[in-house]
Order: sequence, then structure tokens, then C-alpha cells
Amino acid sequence: MTTATPELRYDEGLANTIAAKSRMSFIDGAKGVLEYVGIDIDTLARKSTFEETVYLLWHGQLPTREELDFFTAKIRAEYDLPGPIWDMIRALPPDAIPMHAVRTMISALALYDADADDPTPEANEQKAIRLLAKTPALIAGLDRHRKGLEIIAPDTDHGIAESFLKMLNGAVPTETMARALDVCLILHADHGFNASTFASRVTTATLSDLYSAMTTAVGTLKGPLHGGANEVVMHMLREIGDIEKVEEYIHGKLERSEKVMGFGHRVYKAYDPRATYLKTFAKQIATDTGNMKLYEMSHRIEEIMDAAVGKKGIYPNVDFYSATTYYSLGLDLDLFTPMFVMSRMGGWLGHCIEQLEGNKLIRPRCEYTGPHGSEYAAIEQR
Ligand SMILES: CC(C)(COP(=O)(O)OP(=O)(O)OC[C@H]1O[C@@H](n2cnc3c(N)ncnc32)[C@H](O)[C@@H]1OP(=O)(O)O)[C@@H](O)C(=O)NCCC(=O)NCCS
Repeated sequence: MTTATPELRYDEGLANTIAAKSRMSFIDGAKGVLEYVGIDIDTLARKSTFEETVYLLWHGQLPTREELDFFTAKIRAEYDLPGPIWDMIRALPPDAIPMHAVRTMISALALYDADADDPTPEANEQKAIRLLAKTPALIAGLDRHRKGLEIIAPDTDHGIAESFLKMLNGAVPTETMARALDVCLILHADHGFNASTFASRVTTATLSDLYSAMTTAVGTLKGPLHGGANEVVMHMLREIGDIEKVEEYIHGKLERSEKVMGFGHRVYKAYDPRATYLKTFAKQIATDTGNMKLYEMSHRIEEIMDAAVGKKGIYPNVDFYSATTYYSLGLDLDLFTPMFVMSRMGGWLGHCIEQLEGNKLIRPRCEYTGPHGSEYAAIEQR
């Protein structure tokens, strides 16, 4: 019996391929819409918390008060890191690039989880909570370690955003700062089949474990075409230095056919709805913290880009104004992408659990472009 070979089609960058089904986030790139389980991102940013948003993504519905309290309590109970993990953080080279350190430490967590290879849904849910809850302590811990500061334990009396800022800065954050971070976490939590989510589902689909899947995802997020863009945006703002120099700088980049970081998106060809909200937010927090110059420069870049490439559907993406927001929160530039990890962990974990519900190995083909029938020449004759 012969099996018919299916027709194969090359789709560069998989831009027009649907590779999985998900009920978590919906994106309409042409209209600039993003919803989590049907709820508009703007509504969630105004009304929800990160914990509630993660519950929504994982369970497909908003929690009742009781459910949210229970979920939050389970997360807080998992905030702290196993002793050997704290020791490993203290042993990291202080000049380690944070994303390398985060990727390494997420992977190391598996060594101290007895359930790491338990594939049952119950064990996976528990591991998902652990990974979500422990990532903030990893990030804050490695930042304090590299600065030679005493590492601060998580605060189980507070939500993820507040506890994280306290661990990072050694002081309870103001309500505005905690809320700003909470909103950033909500806005970055999930985004369809982005590169790191895809990567995490590929790993999960081999029936590997959640720690491996999260390690894959962190490595994928690190790239400047994905999660690394917000840090590059901040470097760009620093390099420009003054609003007077914006025009020459941006036109120079476009003339050299270089990309302006924080602009453009594979899916959005209209304004990224997360950027709409972050823009207002960045303005407010930049004003409150005396960083108005950054906001004004960003705004001017946006005007110039709009006139130059707006008609091509290139607008600010989520990274553009999150750079000003994170900087105004006092975060070091190289912590911007780890912040993205903290948030997207919610989306990645939800996707991996979804993947397991009807799992199929994700294994596309590649088009061979090399020669055939080549001769094997002896090494002396090459
Ligand atoms: C996100 C991104 C990778 C999407 O890329 P993509 O869908 O593969 O689109 P392409 O890179 O093929 O770009 C399509 C066109 O828009 C232009 N373009 C895309 N993003 C641009 C940017 N940020 N600045 C200037 N031009 C841009 C490209 O030069 C290309 O122009 P051309 O058709 O005249 O050659 C791309 O927009 C980018 O590199 N942006 C900067 C990095 C960034 O901010 N990433 C974070 C994403 S959330």
C-alpha cells in the first residue's frame, strides 16, 4: 500500500501557517485588536491584575473572589526559591548577561522539583504555579547579587509586581509603581503564536517537561527581533540623547535601510493595542519620575516614523513605550527582557498545558537546497 505524499508548500518565517489552536489570545492585526479569552486588552489593563489575568488565560474564565484568593495564595506559597538555587545565584559571575542567567536558573529549578518529570495534569499545574511564582525571585536575586547587594526574600503579603519591586529595590514600591509594573505584566502576558511561545510548544510537543519548555522559551525571547527589542529601544534613546537630534538619527537609519527598534510587527499592520495603552502610561510615569525628556523623544520618533513608514503599516509595538516605562520604574536596561520573561511565563505555561491536551509532535519540513550525488573525495585530494 502506498501513502500519498501531501503537497508541501514553503512559507518563509511560517508567516502564513497556522501551527496550533489556542483559546487564550486573539489578535486582529489589521484592526489592532488583542483579546485574552475574549476580553479586550485595554479593559484588562485598566481593571485586572497580573494574577487574575494569568488565571483567565489558564482557566478560560475570570475567577470568582474565592477562586482568585485561592490561586493567589498558591502562587505566594511558591514565591521562595530552594536553598541551593539561592546559592547558585550567589555563585553566578556578577557580569553575567541577565538573560543568560535567567535561562540558566529557570533550567536549574528542575533539579530541585521532585515533580519535574511527572506528566500528569495536576503535577503540571503545580509546576506552572511554581515557575510563575519563582521567576521574580530569580530575576531580583541575580540583579542584587551582581550589584553586590544583599539578596532580599520574596514578600508573601504582596502580589507579584509589588513583591518583585521590593526584592529588587529593597523598599516597598509606591502604589503607582507597583500598578505600572502590574499593567506591564498584563500587557505582555500572552500574544498568540509568537516565536517564544511557538518554541515552548515545540519542546512540550516532544513530551519533554515544563522546565525544558520554559528554558527553550527564554532562549528564544532573548533575541532582539523578539523580546530583546525594548532594551535596544532604550539604548537608541540614549544614543540620540536630545530631541533636536531625533530627526537626523531616524532618517539616517531609514536611509541606510536599518530597522528602528520598537516599530513594526509580524501580525499588527495597525497600531499595536498594547502600545496604545503603554503610551499613555509611559507619559504618566515619565512625568511622575522626571523622565519626560524620554517620553518626548519617543513621541517625536513616532511622528517621524509615522510620516516615513506609517503607510507601510509600521507603527510602535509593545516594546517601544515599555522601554520608557521600565526605565522610569528604575529598572536597569538589561532587566527589560527578563521582565518580559516574568510576564510571558503566564502565556507560555498556558500554551504548553494546552498543547498537551491534544498533543501532536510539531515537526515541519525543510526544503533541501544542497547538491545531490556529490563525490566523497579522499581528504588528501580536497
Ligand atoms: C518585528 C519584525 C521582526 C517583523 O518583521 P517582518 O514581519 O518579518 O517584516 P519585515 O522585517 O520583512 O519588514 C517588512 C518591511 O517593513 C520594514 N520594516 C519593518 N520593521 C521596521 C522597522 N522597525 N523600522 C524600519 N522599517 C521596518 C522592512 O524594512 C520591510 O521593508 P521593505 O518591504 O521595504 O523591505 C520587524 O518589524 C522588526 O525587525 N522590528 C524591529 C524589532 C522589534 O521592535 N521587535 C519587537 C517586536 S514586538
